[in-house]
Amino acid sequence: MIRKIGVFTSGGDAPGMNPAIRAIVRYGKHMGLEITGIKRGYSGLIEGDMSDMDLSAVGDIIHRGGTVIKTARSEEFKTEAGFKKALEIIKIFDLDALVAIGGDVTYKGLQKLSEKGVPVIGIPGTIDNDFGYTDVTIGFDTAVNTVVDAISNLRDTSVSHGRINIVEVMGRHCGDIALHAGLAGGAENVVIPEIYYDTDDICRKIIEGRNRGKIHSLIIVAEGVGKPYDLAEEIKEKTGYDTRVSILGYLQRGGSPSAFDRILAARLGARAIDLLVAGNHGRAVGIKNSQVIDVPIENVFDYKKATNEDYYRLIGILSR
Ligand code: F6P
Repeated sequence: MIRKIGVFTSGGDAPGMNPAIRAIVRYGKHMGLEITGIKRGYSGLIEGDMSDMDLSAVGDIIHRGGTVIKTARSEEFKTEAGFKKALEIIKIFDLDALVAIGGDVTYKGLQKLSEKGVPVIGIPGTIDNDFGYTDVTIGFDTAVNTVVDAISNLRDTSVSHGRINIVEVMGRHCGDIALHAGLAGGAENVVIPEIYYDTDDICRKIIEGRNRGKIHSLIIVAEGVGKPYDLAEEIKEKTGYDTRVSILGYLQRGGSPSAFDRILAARLGARAIDLLVAGNHGRAVGIKNSQVIDVPIENVFDYKKATNEDYYRLIGILSR
């Protein structure tokens, strides 16, 4: 019987975490549950840094980036002593279940807790979109929109100077932000870790474009590929074009969550509560073909993350 739930956000923040917290608190209350907000992810869990959340605690946060209950990457939780402390705190604070919003490291923690009998639910919250079991994670859509806005600004200066502008975007080992922003932003080339690339091919495309009168190019490089400055140097040498590098960095993690991310957060938050109320736990919620799904949390890493090769192909054709 679940009465009291602890909610926390963990790992890198992502736009949409706040609407997810709001959904968990308000839907949870609607279902007659008590909700406790655990501060700074696993760090707050270990320290017992938490407080009850009522309906007003999540007022006026739906449009805000970041996470009102803060987040952290806890090294202590990965130690045996830290993990033991977390288990004790869960007992002391009478938490019947935990709902965590985060990425792969957050989920690994949940798996460990679940193995020890703690009822847990995982909600995917990361801009990286690097889970295989869900089509999309909370924060990804907003981050892609942020990158597309940035590319539009870069396009202005790129055209004015007739340069090759190289943009590095986040995503850790996953190229999804680069791929989606590349297609939406009309980039000439996208370089991602999942697909082999040859700098000579990129240069050939630039030269062919120049012969047709195209005077500039935008190239998006996923951070998992790395070395954007080396790429810029090589392209400059091989094409004679002036190159510039922009690393978008943490601005991709902030900003008001998109409507898509807010709706996703509402749906996934509600499913998390529904599962617990129905006596189901040890699950990760997500989206497949627009439908909310849930899978056993111990299996989340068995699903291979698919790369949208069709997007890659389209970028190549449409940006000529
Ligand atoms: O996982 C989200 C992410 O922003 C990645 O894209 C990036 O590699 C990483 O977090 C940066 O981590 P940190 O916040 O620890 O610097």
